[in-house]
Amino acid sequence: MADQHDPFGFDSLSLDWLLAKPGAKWHRHPGDLAAWVADMDFPPPPVVTAALRSLVDGGDLGYPDHLPDPSPARDAWAARCARRYGWSFPVEETRELNDVTQGIQIVLHHHTQPGDGVVVLVPSYPPFLRSVNESHRRLVPVVGRRSAASSTGWEFDYDGLEATLREQPAKVLLLCHPQNPTGHVFDDDELRRLVDIAERHDLLIISDEIHADLTYAPRRHRPMALFAPDRTVTIHAASKAFNLAGLRYAVMHIGPAVLREQILGVPDHLYGEANMFGAEAALVAWTQGDEWLDAVLAHLDRMRVLTGELLAEHLPDIVYTPPASTYLGWLDCRALGFGDDPSREFAARGVQLNEGPEFGDLGVGHTRLNFATSSHVLREIVQRMATPPVR
Ligand SMILES: Cc1ncc(COP(=O)(O)O)c(C=O)c1O
Repeated sequence: MADQHDPFGFDSLSLDWLLAKPGAKWHRHPGDLAAWVADMDFPPPPVVTAALRSLVDGGDLGYPDHLPDPSPARDAWAARCARRYGWSFPVEETRELNDVTQGIQIVLHHHTQPGDGVVVLVPSYPPFLRSVNESHRRLVPVVGRRSAASSTGWEFDYDGLEATLREQPAKVLLLCHPQNPTGHVFDDDELRRLVDIAERHDLLIISDEIHADLTYAPRRHRPMALFAPDRTVTIHAASKAFNLAGLRYAVMHIGPAVLREQILGVPDHLYGEANMFGAEAALVAWTQGDEWLDAVLAHLDRMRVLTGELLAEHLPDIVYTPPASTYLGWLDCRALGFGDDPSREFAARGVQLNEGPEFGDLGVGHTRLNFATSSHVLREIVQRMATPPVR
């Protein structure tokens, strides 16, 4: 129940309500606790729910009037980037998408050929790896490792990348910024280093910034396009920060002029047009959702700390660094002896987590835990993870 300290009720979700949810996260493995796919357990911002309800109640679900183009949601995204991140661009340089991964595929399709190299930081959000492999592009990995010297707990081997690129050229740097699954937030020096490499090796940068709004203070998100405006395609959605993934709506800004002409010149129907519910939800989230976003970030900040405390108490052999961004914890479980994919053992204990090996070779012995839930559910999740099954 909501109260003055928790006006949106983030910390009082009922487990019965969660177990009855129809979405993939809670429905796919009935009865288990769900801490896998990157959906939060909270209902979306009430302003968004009210706007969608009023769209339905208005009784007009016919073709939306997208004229004048650009749509209000794209306008709202551009205005928000300027206000929040100091990044301004003409809205005519953007297009709407059904989802972020579609945008990645579109850019790879236009800018690369089968066999071309695509640089990806690993461990990596699995659809990045699949996007590269299934389109028969060549993966050029940049290895990430835990580092006490880094303020986020993570560093990536850019010297190794330079050496690899001298031997095996690539066409694209596909950046997850902030990074999933480590939660790493790239600072200005690191972004400049990446741009420097991209310029020397003529890489187009695709910057997936879907997690941007989920960056914890004092770190702050800095759009890649601020550093390499003519070399960067930025893809974003309201879906992670405002918990709207089922609505299928995303936006893309295409910095390089030639690529922009190619992509914006494609007939609209080839890539599909935006769904009016997705566009409306994003518009409302980006223009009226900041109070909810501040509150959810404050709650998630507590949950990322609580995750560490609970793991230290119940599963002290797991290595976990509270992420600098996102609500995803990347757990090194190798000391537990649960094999290559520890999520199997945790599933046998009644908790669904993500399978580490899907994040690439560096995911072996790891799993990903989603802590975007109430503290009592999180407590139950970690306690169950620590309780061996009756075999
Ligand atoms: C880095 C990243 N990109 C993209 C997505 C998925 O976005 P979409 O459903 O819009 O393709 C996710 C979802 O977790 C993600 O973490």
